[in-house]
Amino acid sequence: MSNLDNHAPRLGLGLRQAHFTHILANWPEVDWFEIISENFMRSGGRAHHVLQQIAERYPISMHGVSLSIGSTDPLDLEYLHALKQLAMDIDPLWISDHLCWTGILGANTHDLLPVPLTEQCLKHISTRIRTVQDMLERPLILENPASYLSFGQSEIAEPDFLRLLTEETGCGLLLDVNNVYVTCFNNDLDPKQYIAALPAQRVVQMHISGHRHHGTHIIDTHDGPVAEPVWELFQYAWQHVRGVPVLLEWDNDIPSFEVYHAEVLKARAYICGDTLAGQALDGQHAARALEQSRHDGCVSNPLSFMVPDVYAAVDRKADVGVTRHNARVGEIV
Ligand SMILES: [Fe+2]
Repeated sequence: MSNLDNHAPRLGLGLRQAHFTHILANWPEVDWFEIISENFMRSGGRAHHVLQQIAERYPISMHGVSLSIGSTDPLDLEYLHALKQLAMDIDPLWISDHLCWTGILGANTHDLLPVPLTEQCLKHISTRIRTVQDMLERPLILENPASYLSFGQSEIAEPDFLRLLTEETGCGLLLDVNNVYVTCFNNDLDPKQYIAALPAQRVVQMHISGHRHHGTHIIDTHDGPVAEPVWELFQYAWQHVRGVPVLLEWDNDIPSFEVYHAEVLKARAYICGDTLAGQALDGQHAARALEQSRHDGCVSNPLSFMVPDVYAAVDRKADVGVTRHNARVGEIV
């Protein structure tokens, strides 16, 4: 049995300004927080001061929305320097962004736009990831995007494209289960096949979030609780990437901290029920998961350079009295 099997799932929340006062007053039992990097880059004042206080007590991950790794614009070196400076300030678990492009000719659309999944694009993005990693001096973590269309030129399935990026560059993956659900519904794909095709050993974190279903299409809105089909898909995904930290994104119509926290804690029930979820794996996927888990010592995630970091960091920061994980482990196992 690996060390990760002895830990409860690490459940995190996005750090939002609306909750600053509550967090500083109560130091809630949250395993870790994720920030939107751009909200704290190049900024001083209260937000940065609060972040530094919180980073002293909780592990933090940095999640970006403007790297634009898929753009044909040159990489924004000023942006990367600011990103690195923030990382030096708060020592994050990792730095992530999305497989997308966000603008061209210096303009930022503030949207995460899909890339054509071609050999040419694979080479282009791989080169840029290597440059980013060299600058940041750490692996980049890439998230699967939510998409509403696909390019006719695409010649590689998205999970294969992500796998090839990890093989070409050594980057890690952030598996957003809601994005898989949204993308697969909108593009008529099978979400379980998508997840099964991902290189589980490269996934270091999961996202879950709410969406809006419009009948003919789904919009990734992050404005409510997680939909039941996404929880079920999360339970399936846990079979493949067991042990990775999980974070609930909630960015619009943000509720009270207590409501937000209660929603992510639901993940425990789905993880506890994963023996039932295992029955839902079809034979091929189950065999693959089993083979993977044997290879990796019962855990399908051997990224020793990243995933255990969250456990070590949580335990280290627990010493300051913020979190009491042993009690949680007792609850979950
Ligand atoms: Fe996400």
